[in-house]
Amino acid sequence: MPFPIHRPRRLRKNENIRRLVRETNLSIDDLVYPIFIEDGSNIEIEIPSMPNIYRYSIDRLSKELDEVSKLQIPAVLLFGIPSQKDSVGSDTWNEEGIIQKSIRFIKENYPNLYIITDVCFCEYTEHGHCGVLCNHDVDNDATLENTKKQVISHAKAGADMVAPSGMMDGVVKAIREALDEEGFTDIPIMAYSAKYASAYYGPFRDAAESTPAFGDRRSYQMEPANKREAIREVSLDIEEGADIVMVKPALAYLDIISQLRNTFDVPIAAYNVSGEYSMVKAAGKLGWIDEQKVILETATAFKRAGADIIITYHAKEIAKMLKEN
Ligand code: PBG
Ligand code: ZN
Repeated sequence: MPFPIHRPRRLRKNENIRRLVRETNLSIDDLVYPIFIEDGSNIEIEIPSMPNIYRYSIDRLSKELDEVSKLQIPAVLLFGIPSQKDSVGSDTWNEEGIIQKSIRFIKENYPNLYIITDVCFCEYTEHGHCGVLCNHDVDNDATLENTKKQVISHAKAGADMVAPSGMMDGVVKAIREALDEEGFTDIPIMAYSAKYASAYYGPFRDAAESTPAFGDRRSYQMEPANKREAIREVSLDIEEGADIVMVKPALAYLDIISQLRNTFDVPIAAYNVSGEYSMVKAAGKLGWIDEQKVILETATAFKRAGADIIITYHAKEIAKMLKEN
């Protein structure tokens, strides 16, 4: 007869005992902050659907980076918006490309910040798809060739880690081989392994000007209804040499994070995407939720589900709240 012998409320009596039995602790150490950098000068444009998130030109970037460093957020994830787009996204492997210039600027001025680069083509192609087109679809193997050029160029500019997000088959192997051949054996790969074809990316595509000009991404990103397929994608990426695997989006995919945590030993990153951010901001603005509490509760849920790393536009806000506590 459990009750009245067992009373779980005993361990909820006050904050001290709650701290002692808390199973999950969110930390600044878990956070990665995504940053949008646009080619040009004097640019600091707020993204309409993402309050407090801006597109910066390099000359305006310091304000943001000062804050990130001061808050001791360990890493940033860079997205570039080039001045010129073309059919293949050649800015991605240009030595004077937006990401290459950004990496050099950050390394020079913020040597302690860990730089992860998003490796894809959709912000750099006129058609907005994540690679080279052939018959109105992305040509997998042709895209791999350009991806190799892109990562080598990021590595040469000084990137600490590369994160391929295009969902091309064999991309991890292609990148690992290319990096190793050039002597970058120590640069890890964070694979966007279980990246779903999600409507939650809407605000990001406004921010990065990467909406596909025709069709959608369902021939390369995963079907939201699938879970076993996530296990298959992750096993392939680990076999190919992924150091960290990712689930994206995060909130609607906690079961995927949890399943992968129980199946694999590698670190798992959860990408709390733009649409998830926008929903919280919108409800907060309307006064419908306690925004700060919802942000912490959600981030804690990612960790509880099994994520080691949380990539989030809320990173600065979370770090501030954790510092105050
Ligand atoms: C590019 C990329 C996307 C995101 C990260 N990298 C967009 C997409 O696949 O359309 C989404 C990030 C977000 O919504 O916050 N491949
Ligand atoms: Zn893409």
